[in-house]
Amino acid sequence: MSTKNISTLTTPSFLVNLDALENNIKRYQILADENFVKLFPMLKTHKSSEITKMQIEAGATGVLVGTLDEAEAVIEKSGVTKVMLAYPVIGDKNLDRVIALSQQCELFVAFDNEIPAIELSKKLNKATVNYQIIINSGLNRFGVSPEESVNLYNTLKRYPNLIFKGISTHTGQVYGFSKDYIDEITKQEISTMTLAKNLLTKNGANVEFVATGTTPTFTNAIKSDEITVSRPGNYVFFDAIQIALGVAEEKDCALTVLATVISHPSEDLFILDCGSKCLGLDQGAHGNSLTKGFGIVKNHPELTIIGLSEEVAKIKKEGPTTLKIGDKIEIIPNHSCSAANMTSYLIGHRGGTIEKIIEVDIRGNSKKVFID
Ligand SMILES: Cc1ncc(COP(=O)(O)O)c(C=O)c1O
Repeated sequence: MSTKNISTLTTPSFLVNLDALENNIKRYQILADENFVKLFPMLKTHKSSEITKMQIEAGATGVLVGTLDEAEAVIEKSGVTKVMLAYPVIGDKNLDRVIALSQQCELFVAFDNEIPAIELSKKLNKATVNYQIIINSGLNRFGVSPEESVNLYNTLKRYPNLIFKGISTHTGQVYGFSKDYIDEITKQEISTMTLAKNLLTKNGANVEFVATGTTPTFTNAIKSDEITVSRPGNYVFFDAIQIALGVAEEKDCALTVLATVISHPSEDLFILDCGSKCLGLDQGAHGNSLTKGFGIVKNHPELTIIGLSEEVAKIKKEGPTTLKIGDKIEIIPNHSCSAANMTSYLIGHRGGTIEKIIEVDIRGNSKKVFID
């Protein structure tokens, strides 16, 4: 790779600031290690085997995946040996894929009801699979209550090829509130999981791990002796939502989109050559509305991205600006997990000097068709 500067790139381009990326990976790993918590980063943020390898080399114990595509690709390309599935899986072909995965790594499937568990048990015959019970700690998406987890555990005990290992949760509701609520939601995360662990243990279950994880609650949740595994995702890149929540600063945001001003239709308006197919339409997650516009224009606090078409963005000037047609500017997306999924590769740079291409190579739905 040449020693060219990012300013020479055609636009739109997806950039990764390697210093920020490495620092984010290192910082969360050190915090996990200091608190004797095992890190299983969630891969949906970057969907890249190379960034996965960086996380494993930094000390992550395993990974958390949102899709079977991610799991299959990351085992093949990054050689990870411990994989947790975030969500229940159902359907003939997908359960075959789960069984194949369980033969290639130490796999932990996730259940919050008995139907996927019974279907998997039938297909497994004499083989075994580890599982975790998903606990609902307030997101009200997946999961059973601590009390219900005992019933589910007792039901699944009838299937000896399903081996109970632990419990997990994700307090994604933290994104629906302001930073003032992060501590309260973290307390709820810890107390719900502690109750579930205690009830299950009293009922005879051997709870080998208690897993939680969101980027905003990570720092305080891992201080609890009850939490033994953490599974944050967004922390590798951070984004405008994390800035709005007070979890990150602009310098921590590793992923940006480089775009060019291609039109200046009126005194206050500028048009860029990147739209919703680069930045995503997210203005928040789980009800968050703290961000302003559709991303942060770096070094231009006077500019707000007020609208996105598919391939272009509309910027409004709210103060004096030097911006002109032909200028290239960097935008921090509101939600980096959505933005990174819009490209097949990221351009890694250090201080603006291009260093390497990072492939987004563990995305799904691009190369395979499975039929039940
Ligand atoms: C089950 C689960 N765990 C962990 C995460 C990671 O959360 P964050 O990106 O806030 O770190 C997610 C995100 O969607 C998730 O669904």
